[in-house]
This record gives sequence, C-alpha cells and structure tokens, in this order.
Amino acid sequence: MSAIRYELGPDQILTLTIDMPGQSANTMNGEFRQALAATVHKVKEDLESIKGIIIASAKKTFFAGGDLNELHKVTRADAEAFETMVNGLKTDLRYLETTGKPMVAAINGAALGGGLEIALACHHRIALDDDRIQLGLPEVTLGLLPGGGGTQRLPRMIGLEAAFPYLMEGKKVSPKAALKAGIIDELAASPEEMIAKARAFIEANPTCKQPWDQKGFRFPGGAPHHPAMAQKLAIAPAMLKQKTKGCYPAPERILSAAVEGAQVDFDNGSLIETRYFTELVTGPVAKNMTGTFWFQLNAIKAGESRPDGIEKKTFNKVGVLGAGMMGAGIAYSTAVRGIEVVLKDVSVENAEKGKSYASNLLSKKVSRGRMTEDKMQAILGRIKTTDSADDLEGCDLVIEAVFEDSTLKASVTAEAEPKLVDNGIFASNTSTIPITQLAEASARPENFIGLHFFSPVDKMQLVEIIVGEKTSDETLARAFDYVQQIGKIPIVVNDSRGFFTSRVFGTFVNEGISMLGEGIHPSSIENAGLLAGMPVGPLAISDEVSMTLMQHIRDQSKHDTEAAGGQWNAHPAEAVIDQMVNTHGRMGKAAGAGFYEYPANGRKYLWPELENLYTNSDKAAAVQLQDLKDRILFIQAIETVRCLEENVLRTVEDANIGSIFGIGYAPWTGGAIQFINQYGVRAFAERARELEQQYGERFAAPKLLLEKAESNTSFA
Ligand code: NAI
Repeated sequence: MSAIRYELGPDQILTLTIDMPGQSANTMNGEFRQALAATVHKVKEDLESIKGIIIASAKKTFFAGGDLNELHKVTRADAEAFETMVNGLKTDLRYLETTGKPMVAAINGAALGGGLEIALACHHRIALDDDRIQLGLPEVTLGLLPGGGGTQRLPRMIGLEAAFPYLMEGKKVSPKAALKAGIIDELAASPEEMIAKARAFIEANPTCKQPWDQKGFRFPGGAPHHPAMAQKLAIAPAMLKQKTKGCYPAPERILSAAVEGAQVDFDNGSLIETRYFTELVTGPVAKNMTGTFWFQLNAIKAGESRPDGIEKKTFNKVGVLGAGMMGAGIAYSTAVRGIEVVLKDVSVENAEKGKSYASNLLSKKVSRGRMTEDKMQAILGRIKTTDSADDLEGCDLVIEAVFEDSTLKASVTAEAEPKLVDNGIFASNTSTIPITQLAEASARPENFIGLHFFSPVDKMQLVEIIVGEKTSDETLARAFDYVQQIGKIPIVVNDSRGFFTSRVFGTFVNEGISMLGEGIHPSSIENAGLLAGMPVGPLAISDEVSMTLMQHIRDQSKHDTEAAGGQWNAHPAEAVIDQMVNTHGRMGKAAGAGFYEYPANGRKYLWPELENLYTNSDKAAAVQLQDLKDRILFIQAIETVRCLEENVLRTVEDANIGSIFGIGYAPWTGGAIQFINQYGVRAFAERARELEQQYGERFAAPKLLLEKAESNTSFA
C-alpha cells in the first residue's frame, strides 16, 4: 500500500490522499518521499487528463511534519547526501506546484511543520473550522528550521515581517486565525463541504500559478531591499542575538534563509534554505533539543518511570490544604482539568482568597476571548472553599501546601487522612523537608508521597514526584496518573534533602553568589548566567527566592548533618548571604532590597553598593566570561551526576527534563546530563578537574562520572 492514494475521478480531479501505512500520523520519511516521487511520475503521465489536484489526509491530523527519528540520526558525515535527498523531495513538491493545474490542500486536522509546508505549496488552502486544529511551523522549538520550503513560501505569501513569528518563534494558530493572517484561504464547516469547496475552486480556476512564479511578483510588505524593510532587517540580527544569547543557532539561520532567499528567485531560495536546514540538522543544538524535548519527553509521557502492572486511575475529587501561593495554583490546575477540588485553609476567607487566584486567571482568558463565561463558571464551580476538614470526605488525593513547618504538616496529615477514600493518597508539596520524615506523621506511610510543584503552578509544567522510604509502588503509579491527568510532566525521584531540583538549583545560586565574594563584578555574573542560557541571573534569582529562606534551609541542613555526626563544609556563598542579610538588612525582592534595588517604577537594578563591597578591580578585569559560564553549567551538571550516583534520580530522562523544566537549565544543552554527553564525558571530566583546582572541591567529579570518563561511555 502506498503512503499516497492516487484517485483520478471521472471529473478529472485527482485526489492525493496521504495515508502512511501503520502510522497514526503522516510524517515526511523515506516512505513518504518514495510515494511522492511515484506520484509525481504518474501525474506526469496523466497530466493531460488532470483538471486539478486535491491533497487530503486519511488520518485524524493532516500531516505531522518531519520524521524526527530520521532527522535525529543524520550526522555531519551524511550532510551531502541529506541535502540531495531534501532537494529531491522539494523538487517533487515543486513539480506539482508548477504544472499549471490548480492544487488545493484540504486541511482536515493539525498541519504542522512539513504538513503546513505541503499546504503552502498548494494554490488554495481550505481548513476545517475547528479551534482545536493547529497550524504552524514549530521546527524552531527543536532547534531546526522549516526545510520544506516554509522559509521561502510563507514570506512570499504574507510578507517577511508577518512570517517571522511563525518561522522564528514557532507560533501556532487556529484555522480562523490562519485565515485572518492570510495563511489559508477558506474555512469549511465539514469535511464534505471542504471537498466540495476544493472542487469548486478547481472548476473555477483551470490554470494556477503561484504569485511568486508570476512576472512582476512584488513581495508583500516590501522586499528586503525596500528602504523601510532594509532598515528593519539591518537591526534584526542584533535583536535576535540579544534574544538567543548566541546559544540558539536556529532563529538566526531562519532569518538568513528567509532574507537571503527573498533576494533571489524561489528555486534558488529553496536551495539556500536546504543548506541552512542541513547545517542545523547535523549540528549539536538540534540534536540536544530533539533528543530531550522529543524522545525523552515522550518516554516520560509514555510512563517509563511509572511502575508496571498497576491499573491506571482517574481522580475525581482532590483536597488541597493551604490556599496560599502554591495551594491556589494547585487548586486551579486541578479544577481546570475537570477534577472536583476542596480548597481548605484556616478560614473560609483565606480559602476564598486562594480561589480568587483561579477566577483572576480565568477572567483574563474570558476577556481575551479564549474561554467562554460558562466554562469559567463551571471550573470555578468545581472549587469548593472551606475551613473544615470534614469537607475532605471522599477525596482520592489530598495535597498539603501549608507553611513549611513539619509540626504543622504533621497535624494536617493526621486530620485529613481519615477522610480519604480507602487507599487514598496523601501528598506533601514541601520544598525541603524529606518525605520519609513527614511520613512519620502518617497512619499509612505507604500511601504518603511528595508532589513538588513549581511556582507559578499554572505555568510550570513539571511536577517532581518524591518517593519516601515506605511509599508503595501503587501510590507512586497513582501519583503519576494524577500529574498526567492535570497535564503536567512527572519526574520521579527518591527522597533526599532538596530532592533533585532544589538541590541542583542551590548549586547554581551559590556559585553565582561565590563569584561576587571572589570580587567579580555583579553585572558580569548576571550576564554570564544569561549567556550560559539560564533564564535569570543567579543574583536576581537569589532575590526572588529570598536570602533569609536560603539561610533557613542552610541552617537546617547544617543542623541535620551535624546531628548525624557529619561535618558541615561551609560554601563560600554563605558568608556573602550572611553579610547581605545580617549586616545590610537586604533579604531579597519581597523585602524590597537584595542584590537588586526595587524602585516603585518596577525597573530593578543591581544595588550600586555591591561594587564597593565586593568588586576587586584586578579580579574583575582578569575574569574570563567562558570560565564563568562553565562554572554555572558545570556545577549543576556535576550535582546532577551526584543525584544519579546516589539514586536520587532514577533515569537520565528525568535528569534532563527535570533540569530544564524545573530549574531552567539551559534548554540548548538538552539538559544537565546531555550537556556532559555532548561535551564528551572525558573532556567534561578534565575540565571539571581544572575547575576543581581553581575553585574548590565542589567541582570534584563524582565516581560515576570518572567511571564513564575512564570507559569513555556517555550517559545512556
Ligand atoms: P503560603 O504562605 O503562600 O501559603 C500557606 C497557606 O497555608 C496560607 O494560606 C495559610 O493560611 C495556610 N495554612 C496554614 N495552616 C493551615 C492549616 N492548618 N490548614 C490549612 N491551611 C493552612 O506558602 P506557599 O508559598 O504556598 O508554600 C506552601 C508550601 O509549598 C510550603 O511547604 C512550601 O515550602 C512549598 N513550596 C513552595 C514553593 C514556592 O515557590 N513558594 C515551591 C514549592 C513548594
């Protein structure tokens, strides 16, 4: 069976239905390329008797885009063959576009990446009018570019500037929005209507030529040499660099492909696009990003960390204790996914305040036309506010998000547990207290687990599931199901102080603060954090977290270490934090003063006195940016290896996904462990040794890393 069904009807309209055998979605793989070549061959033979062509899909979606399995394997050595193969595919599509016969895309479902590119090669695009359908070119989000003509056709269709958000940011739109943007031409209410409209277009337009194949074609919005456009384009690379920090080559290559391609004819533009596409496909960043954001994320979503053989569970009623910042967010994220929520605080007034967080978020959606008033009311109707534990009766799961105080947490556990259904789960959202210790307050520690959400809960996709010593596999499996039911990404870790994410995050923050103590200029530190690819500099994030909280966590760890007979090794950051808090009264953002000043106009700036207090001009002048960036990325990667070695982390997938989604570890790296793999384990171990000699034992390579370096094997 061919991947493309060829049906030439008695009305001389040829319908090409894409239906890749044995696949749930159509993708641009070898099988598709072969089928397309065979189709072109047949069309050449039948051309006289073809009036027009309709391209349709037999799947639920129109076309899913490039085959990432295939792209991921292409190496630098294959570059030439890859380029030839891509150009071959594009020539076939180009043939269909230039026969002179009308070609219509009947878009019945999502058309992403290569899917939208096929549609763009058509003379007319009709999509089903369904807001759930997405159209877009998301390649950039995986470090790639739309290599099927997208960087050439879309700018020629809607203009360079209008095309940039789709090409360089991976913007996706509904068919209605695509119609408004000029990306499609018509909407249809049903598949039947869509085909009828496609036929009508063909009947009404016996010959068709793309605008860019017509004489005197003018670029919509102005060609690159048009003075106004030239001015905008002149600053575009610099603006882009500011955004990508030089870490992400894809947006820059997309800009080049689109702008260079716009200065030549379509076919030469297409060749330019292929060259840049090949460069990205065979480069390290796309490998890192597809590996992690596609393969590893899919493995997690498929439940690789969920214990086998336990039936999947659906949650109907969830209790949330504490309606503060975290509780309010958890209640919202749960109710949005159709689950009844009981939101309990010490007073109904407090609980209502927590619920207002949900109504604020939902009202914004309604006012932007992204949700109906009825839907909002239905979601709010699912959040019951209370001050009484009796209302928790019948909950499948209760999550506590009360103050970070183990005595309080113990009392709410004892109060809530008897109200749960048989086998119901009690979860803690603690950020620092070991789960095994909290489970001591539980009458059923096997049903006790950690569910560590991140702030703001509605935006942060990750949930760290923490398994205590007595937590059962069944409880873990169910916690996993809940996290998936609310549409978040679960990683599973074993109990440890700070679990995985807070522990590694702490190394980032402390490294930045130690640099300050060494005399490095504060702006160089913040800049190095951003240039390494972290979303925020280490000093700014310390202010967000609050330095008093950092002191509190450190004191607790120190106390526990010493109580267990261990010796506390003070981190060089500690002295700086103590000085900031105890001597200067600068606790962080919430207190209005930290490493930054927080004026009323909202434009924070580094506290000028930091320079006098800490900066050593010799040191500041001698420092190498690469050194600072390495320290930031290495210290976190090394701590991640320690978490794997200590079995806090169970899989490399959880390490990579958790580091990016939970900590903000530079996405271009593909995660903290992928950073080591890409750097090369041996080279990484050697560089770690240099950093250890210069900055101290905290950079010492863990045994697991040394073993990998010795045998020269990557983390699998
Ligand atoms: P918060 O201070 O905003 O809210 C705590 C809420 O618990 C308050 O509304 C308080 O009235 C309520 N509460 C106190 N005693 C209660 C009781 N007996 N029954 C019901 N409610 C009670 O605190 P936040 O930031 O929401 O943190 C809550 C928990 O989540 C803490 O354990 C914290 O460590 C953890 N966490 C915090 C994160 C953050 O970024 N703030 C991130 C991840 C975890």
